[in-house]
Amino acid sequence: MNTLESSSVDLAPAKAIVARHGGGRDACIRILQNLQAAYGYLPDAALRYVVENTEISEGQIYGVATFYDQFRFTPVGKHMIRVCHGTACHVNGAGKISGALEDELGIGNHETTKDNLFTLETVACLGCCSLAPVKMIDDTVYGRLTPEQARKIIKDYRNNAATKSS
Ligand code: FES
Repeated sequence: MNTLESSSVDLAPAKAIVARHGGGRDACIRILQNLQAAYGYLPDAALRYVVENTEISEGQIYGVATFYDQFRFTPVGKHMIRVCHGTACHVNGAGKISGALEDELGIGNHETTKDNLFTLETVACLGCCSLAPVKMIDDTVYGRLTPEQARKIIKDYRNNAATKSS
């Protein structure tokens, strides 16, 4: 486990989550889901706190965390971009949308930009197939996208971020 990281992670949320769910082995998934909701990812130090303060073993917690796609071990950017690769989006050009975004952002799937502004993820159906191809940024859906529109939306977010910080 990463000792450097442990000094910079606030364990208060992990302590509250363990207190809320108890220390039984059957609480493992609920604890992981709550940790991810609190931190945005699963910090090593928080996982270690759970192992040291519950009946959940290191093998169990890492086994569950790596089995499910929903869990991640690295911090995410300020904005989460989800590109749908479900069937309807796939046949309507999701690959080109992802390609344009990877090119625009300079990152691949499941990666975060150096400025920590965006994380890019491909996902299964987002539930709005009539708008295919679709991407979501945080809670906002963008449908019937072209690669050019997908890029422009990113540029607009960047411009907004630059305006806010100036
Ligand atoms: S397949 Fe993309 S929203 Fe359903």
